[in-house]
Amino acid sequence: MRLIIDTDTAGDDVFSLMLALTRPGVNVEAITIAHGNVGFAQHAENALTTLEVCGRAGEVPVHLGATRPLTRAPLSASYVFGADGMSDSGFPPAAQRTAKGAAPEEIVRRIMAAPGEITLIAQAPLTNLALAVALEPRIAQACRHLWIMGGTDNGIGNVTPAAEYNFYVDPEAAKIVLAAGFDVSIVTWTLTLQDGLFTLDQLEELEALDTPKSLFFTAVNRTSLAFAQQTQGLGGSLHPDLLTCALALDEGLIRAADRCVVDVETQGELSRGYLSVSHPILPDVELADPDLVRKAPNARVIKAVDRAGLFAAMRAALA
Ligand code: RIB
Ligand code: CA
Repeated sequence: MRLIIDTDTAGDDVFSLMLALTRPGVNVEAITIAHGNVGFAQHAENALTTLEVCGRAGEVPVHLGATRPLTRAPLSASYVFGADGMSDSGFPPAAQRTAKGAAPEEIVRRIMAAPGEITLIAQAPLTNLALAVALEPRIAQACRHLWIMGGTDNGIGNVTPAAEYNFYVDPEAAKIVLAAGFDVSIVTWTLTLQDGLFTLDQLEELEALDTPKSLFFTAVNRTSLAFAQQTQGLGGSLHPDLLTCALALDEGLIRAADRCVVDVETQGELSRGYLSVSHPILPDVELADPDLVRKAPNARVIKAVDRAGLFAAMRAALA
């Protein structure tokens, strides 16, 4: 499997990278960096550190991309991940440095050079992908499959009641990408709350592996675990990006999924970044309002996953 991962590397983004970088038969051809969770430059540092911890230093280029959303101000989530996005662990800088070539151009160049070959995992605000689509709209057809972590599925968000972080931060980019014609699967925040939690017992089991990778995982996860416990009242930590990567690497973990009509709200006063997901309980839209236009499903929304399989995948990656 040939992969490009677009990431605002902090917290769970790190674990998604670890899963892909350690999976036999998976070739991570590039990591592209977007604005998002913490400081932009720190995302690149965190990706480079992760490559080193996974024994892959110097093997995967890390390309810098958009430093801000298409039209809006950047928005940090350091209150979840610590100022460095790594639970303020103070890791030393990695020896590898970032590669030449801007992320959107690299995404286009690599996908167009290998039509039908490359799977994209998007686990950050979708700015780099929207810019790539603007440069070369044919990447949507040339990309093997696009996995997006973002949005909610008729559920509650993690920034506002209506919106999940990646879509809230750059809704214009998300709208462009969802309309571009990719063969796309979406892992929502709603699915993350349902199936993307590692319990305290599971986290102890990972730490007890006592390998450099498991100790790194435990250190990086500390702040978001505390946030989940203290602020969200959860009995463990949440892993949206890891969940997305695990499904991309092994679709056998999918227990339920639906083809849906999806779109993103860019204008709403209370619903900026809201992902509208069609649902079978709704009547045909034209029946409800003749002014509404029926649309064909444009995304696969993942509804349930094999939780034990997800944990086993991460456990294997950290051993
Ligand atoms: O809402 C979850 C997403 O935003 C994830 O990609 C995570 O990195 C967070 O900041
Ligand atoms: Ca992310």
